[in-house]
Amino acid sequence: MSAPAFVAVTGAEGFIGSHLVEELVTTGHRVRAMVQYNSFSSFGWLETLPEEVMSHVEVVLGDVRDPGSVNGLVAGAEAVYHLAALIAIPYSYRAPHSYVETNVTGTLNVLEAVRHLGVPRLVHTSTSETYGTAQTVPINEDHPINTQSPYAASKAGGDRLADSYHASFDLPVVTLRPFNTFGPRQSMRAVIPTVIAQVAAGERAITLGDLRPTRDFTYVKDTVAAFLAVGTAPAADVVGRTFNAGTGEEISIGDLVLLIGKLMDSDLAVTEDPARIRPAASEVMRLVCDATRLRAATGWAPAHTLEAGLVRAIEFFRDPANLSRYKVGIYNV
Ligand SMILES: NC(=O)c1ccc[n+]([C@@H]2O[C@H](COP(=O)([O-])OP(=O)(O)OC[C@H]3O[C@@H](n4cnc5c(N)ncnc54)[C@H](O)[C@@H]3O)[C@@H](O)[C@H]2O)c1
Repeated sequence: MSAPAFVAVTGAEGFIGSHLVEELVTTGHRVRAMVQYNSFSSFGWLETLPEEVMSHVEVVLGDVRDPGSVNGLVAGAEAVYHLAALIAIPYSYRAPHSYVETNVTGTLNVLEAVRHLGVPRLVHTSTSETYGTAQTVPINEDHPINTQSPYAASKAGGDRLADSYHASFDLPVVTLRPFNTFGPRQSMRAVIPTVIAQVAAGERAITLGDLRPTRDFTYVKDTVAAFLAVGTAPAADVVGRTFNAGTGEEISIGDLVLLIGKLMDSDLAVTEDPARIRPAASEVMRLVCDATRLRAATGWAPAHTLEAGLVRAIEFFRDPANLSRYKVGIYNV
């Protein structure tokens, strides 16, 4: 009897990855999940998933920078979802080499493994940050790429390699380009958890970076639905293409804080922390998504409004057991 089919996921222990693993299992998949090797034997957010989910998940400790690790992960998979990345923009100013090694070389390792092991579908994860400040709105996939941070540049490098592997080797890769995603389990490096957690911890004076930029915030379950949509659609509809995933709605960080304050019944005083302000030319001032291509190819549409998603995120961060996993009092780079 042949071994049961499975899909492989990199970045499985992270914010979006752990939600994706949950949804893959719920929709009947077995998952081989790469968790970055660490000396604590921590499985990250996978440790919080129920046994009925984890009984369908094989955890493999490894590293996308290591080709052997990646080959072992993807051998025999019916699809690979590649989410592993270093994602924080501020840390990419400090440690750019590690971003290139993880996001560019790590992606190259995944592409090579998929190519040589003949995996029939690879979903590569890009980011809306690769567009830079919107030159036209809403942003569709033909918008120019303008990488304003080492993070964005390293992600765009991975994207270009993915495109080149499709062109050169007919690799069955599809690139998903999520806009800002939020929800339970997101790290404190992102603005929504930062605000909610400060309020949940009893703070009323909220410290943030620039309040003017606008973003298109997509609830994590909708982003995960987009991953599944491109991972399971007929090849002819998606392979070799890039798809934006976002709501088409934008809100400034300042207005977002006011909305969170309203939903949490708190009057917030917001101060801009100079340490959190990015170099002017590096700050992406406006992102708003045109997801027409994804909708046309797969029927995907977001099912959560910003408010509905925020309510769920607030509920998560208000739970002391969840909040205790975070370091709320410091600037999480
Ligand atoms: N969160 C967002 O708003 C957003 C928006 C667009 C795109 N993305 C992309 O989605 C993906 C997931 O992001 P996330 O928000 O869940 O971040 P995250 O930091 O929670 O997840 C990234 C995961 O990659 C793992 N990882 C890092 N280096 C690794 C390595 N060398 N080997 C193996 N694993 C490694 C980390 O341990 C982590 O679990 C990333 O590719 C990111 O660029 C995120």
